[in-house]
Amino acid sequence: MRTPFAFSAICAVFSLVSASSRHNYNTHNYYVVEHDPEYASLTEVASSLGVEVVERVGELADHWLVRTRKGLEGREEGDGVLKRHETLRARSAETGIKYLSRQSLRQRTKRAPILERRQSDDSDGARAVAERFGIHDPLFPDQWHIINDEEPIHSMNVVPVWEMGFTGKGIISSFIDDGLDYTSVDLKANFVAEFSHDYNDHEDLPTPKLGDDTHGTRCAGQVGAGKNTACGIGIAYDSKVAGVRILSGPISDADEAAALNFGYHNVSLYSCSWGPPDNGMVMDGPGYLINKAVLNGINKGRGGKGSVFVFAAGNGAASGDQCNFDGYTNSIYSVTVAAVDHKGERPYYSEACTANLIAAYSSGNGKRIVTTDKGTNKCTDTHGGTSAAAPNAVGVFALALEARPDLTWRDIQHLCVENARQIGDGEEWQLTAAGRNYSSNFGYGALDATAFVQAAQKWKLVKPQTRMHTKNDPN
Ligand SMILES: *[C@@H]1O[C@H](CO)[C@@H](O)[C@H](O)[C@H]1NC(C)=O
Ligand SMILES: *[C@@H]1O[C@H](CO)[C@@H](O)[C@H](O)[C@H]1NC(C)=O
Repeated sequence: MRTPFAFSAICAVFSLVSASSRHNYNTHNYYVVEHDPEYASLTEVASSLGVEVVERVGELADHWLVRTRKGLEGREEGDGVLKRHETLRARSAETGIKYLSRQSLRQRTKRAPILERRQSDDSDGARAVAERFGIHDPLFPDQWHIINDEEPIHSMNVVPVWEMGFTGKGIISSFIDDGLDYTSVDLKANFVAEFSHDYNDHEDLPTPKLGDDTHGTRCAGQVGAGKNTACGIGIAYDSKVAGVRILSGPISDADEAAALNFGYHNVSLYSCSWGPPDNGMVMDGPGYLINKAVLNGINKGRGGKGSVFVFAAGNGAASGDQCNFDGYTNSIYSVTVAAVDHKGERPYYSEACTANLIAAYSSGNGKRIVTTDKGTNKCTDTHGGTSAAAPNAVGVFALALEARPDLTWRDIQHLCVENARQIGDGEEWQLTAAGRNYSSNFGYGALDATAFVQAAQKWKLVKPQTRMHTKNDPN
């Protein structure tokens, strides 16, 4: 870069201003500029556009959040920044600006729990396991997704993996959600502040503040709730959890892009139980910057082995929604997780589509997921939806990554395809050309922790992704 001095001066000025006033969409218009240092310095670009530089966009190299004060722009017709960009481009191809877009705020939708009548459970098998592992978490016997006494086949099947000695040690999962209650005695010990952030209020810690900010804490509990005397236990109870708050208000694509790469050298898994609305009327997907962040994650995350992005399929099946119309779930870079209930049936909310890779256990047929809740020592037995299916998959992947830290994001996908368990009746399964059964309800089947981790132990790593273009392919 040609003028590092000028840029560090900008940074110095901005660090004096609080993080939340640096992100004030009431007083300023925000843009993301992709800078090409070959043709102009960032300072030159900023001055030619008439903007001030706020910060880099997360982990995206050469992408900068910039802004102008609203009042100044108000006197001009249309958007002055975009106009100046057009004028610059008309004059020269070498503007130093590869891309420019105005940022707007958008609300992402939680794949929230679906409430239904509940049945109580009395789990003898769970009591025996609790004794064997010294588990004193009072609600462990109610966690049928770990041990299902009524329908033993229908659980995440994690106990044999614990028996093998894998409990998630050394693995960090990030819950991109509405906050994470790090004061909870069930999560405190496994919480990592360093890789947590709040993009709604622009603060360091993902403190749940709104009345309904319980979702992220519940999802995190499914994976990282400790072995202690609070609530139940996480599937990977010795793993670490981070919280990135984005769902407690509308956010910009720039912040969402930053969230998806937050801590990506150290975080292995990103648990995403949200997306576009599930009303069956919206077709939406990650915008340009968010797609770039996902690619950045799979290429550079986890020392190049790739971030594992796990997305909930969506809860809109009853409204005729389906996950093919959601650009997060149908991305080839994500692992999309549908729900299956405690009887092995598709819950009425879980969306069917060919983007589903696997299914994981969640609410339906009168039972829900028991996990940690927001509060110092609070638990819930009403968690569910595909929101709870995705974290159950994240927990299994955390166990597998402890066993095989060298697995890439692609190995995780292959292991899903090869080791999922066929469930439900025969009718919904279709034999693919690859000789495997596929169901648009359950993907390749229910994720089984034991099968997955055992296969991971002897897995031969796949080669990096390659692309082939034919002559007729316009791309
Ligand atoms: C994060 O990862 C980097 C690079 O591998 C490493 O140097 C650092 O110690 C890690 N930090 C933590 C807190 O794990
Ligand atoms: C596919 O599913 C059908 C119906 O359940 C079953 O009969 C068949 O054996 C399955 N094939 C494979 C390859 O799993």
